[in-house]
Amino acid sequence: MSKIGIILGSGLSHFTKQLENPEIIYSELGGIHKKSVLEGRICGKTVFLFTGRNHFYETYSKDKVYRNINLAKDLNIEFLIITNAAGGLNPLYQVSDLMLIKSHINFFQKRLIEKPVQCSSDGTIRWAKDCAIRNGIKVYEGCYYASSGPVYETQSEINFLKRVKADAVGMSTIPDILRANELGIKTLGISCITNKLYSGFSVKVTHDEVVDAGAKAYRRFSEYLKNLINDY
Ligand code: HPA
Repeated sequence: MSKIGIILGSGLSHFTKQLENPEIIYSELGGIHKKSVLEGRICGKTVFLFTGRNHFYETYSKDKVYRNINLAKDLNIEFLIITNAAGGLNPLYQVSDLMLIKSHINFFQKRLIEKPVQCSSDGTIRWAKDCAIRNGIKVYEGCYYASSGPVYETQSEINFLKRVKADAVGMSTIPDILRANELGIKTLGISCITNKLYSGFSVKVTHDEVVDAGAKAYRRFSEYLKNLINDY
């Protein structure tokens, strides 16, 4: 039976409550996000939930940045769903909407991998989209811009990102995807839109707003994750 892992982004940590017979298998204090790995069962499948991650802007240690993915490899996880909070650039996107990361733009950090890395194969995106449709859950497919953070975008950066047709921007996930790819772990990236970014006028984005919006999207997002686990 294949093992599934889910990296829970901002606002999604309550999803750990869905685990039957949870066991803490890793726990770490420190940094701005609490980090742990829990193992348990959801929809009759073995699932590992990762709360918290180390971002590139927090540390120069590759060991820390890639910790979740290296742990996933040690746990023989074959499929990782990587979730995040992201700012919405596509004018259609509203707060709480979900976006499958179909493509990405990454200029801030690369790994030496021979070929360009896609977050998910076309087949995985089709499967995830189909699962959403069958369960009446609205998801977009879009392009994620990987920002090195830690600050939110300037007005000119927002204008630029809209012009290059990025649909959402966030500060995580792409390093995870690159490392997972290197280790042969299949991935699916899902962004939860926690704030809208406008060209022409600036709205100050705050971390609290991002966390609150993540929490508001929780019900839909957690339903979708359960549907994906059940389907896999
Ligand atoms: N920009 C970058 N990262 C983010 C944002 C944003 O507006 N919202 C949530 N994560």
